[in-house]
Amino acid sequence: MGATLDDVDESVGALRRTLLTISPIVLAALAALVWFVVGRTLRPVEEANRRQRQFVADASHELRSPLTRIRTELEIDLAHPDRAELAATHRTVLADAIALQALVEDLLHLARSDAGTTALRRDPVDLDDIVLTEVQRVRPSVTVAFDVAGLSGAQVLGDTDQLRRVVRNLLENAVRHARSTVTVEVREEPGEALLAVTDDGPGIPASERERVFERFTRLDDARSARAGGTGLGLAITREIVQRHDGAVAVDPAVGTGTRMVVRLPRAG
Ligand SMILES: Nc1ncnc2c1ncn2[C@@H]1O[C@H](COP(=O)(O)OP(=O)(O)O)[C@@H](O)[C@H]1O
Ligand SMILES: [Mg+2]
Repeated sequence: MGATLDDVDESVGALRRTLLTISPIVLAALAALVWFVVGRTLRPVEEANRRQRQFVADASHELRSPLTRIRTELEIDLAHPDRAELAATHRTVLADAIALQALVEDLLHLARSDAGTTALRRDPVDLDDIVLTEVQRVRPSVTVAFDVAGLSGAQVLGDTDQLRRVVRNLLENAVRHARSTVTVEVREEPGEALLAVTDDGPGIPASERERVFERFTRLDDARSARAGGTGLGLAITREIVQRHDGAVAVDPAVGTGTRMVVRLPRAG
């Protein structure tokens, strides 16, 4: 027996009812899916935007203090030329100008690396040579002793200037915090080159060992940018090391003082 018209009508009616019942559910599910996918896609973009805004705000804040000091010093001297101590003013203004220059150079480095516009050279670089020249460079101006007995040959492929900057940043931090001695090791290990800079200073608390690699982190807030760094040194260090396919971290196994360890793929 074939279906009657009534049967067909009933089937169509049932179909409509079913569709009417499930379509809101399907729509809601679709909407949820779209919301989820768009949310997931945008979240990293929003996070990047937030970090960029924070970066600009922090950078402006760091630029403002030395600029304000320079302006105040000059205004006071101009207002009271009879009482102006020019040599003292020159020294203050010069110190601030030097700090500003270092800060702007660090900011430019990070801005360029954020934009991905700098190509990395890949030349054979002897890490031990870089360490020796950098140690010779800082040695005359500090009182701490350097222990370089643990230096042996290690070659990596990379950008000499950038790797020099890594060594310099780590040495400057170690020298600033050391009580009496800074120890530098360089050696080849299976597949990688190891560079370690150790000081016998106060150390970095376990809870801060990752945070020190973030931009503008200075654990000692009392120390002004003028008295030392910009809080960008370790952020730049990590950025350079990572672009060389390596890693840098605070050695968690060291009880007193700080041991910074850089691992880079070996040349060849
Ligand atoms: N060897 C170290 N010993 C103790 N604290 C350190 C050491 N190296 C870095 N730090 C801490 O990490 C912070 C961030 O270092 P860095 O990024 O080089 O910035 P900066 O040297 O400009 O302050 C420093 O301000 C300091 O508080
Ligand atoms: Mg530093």
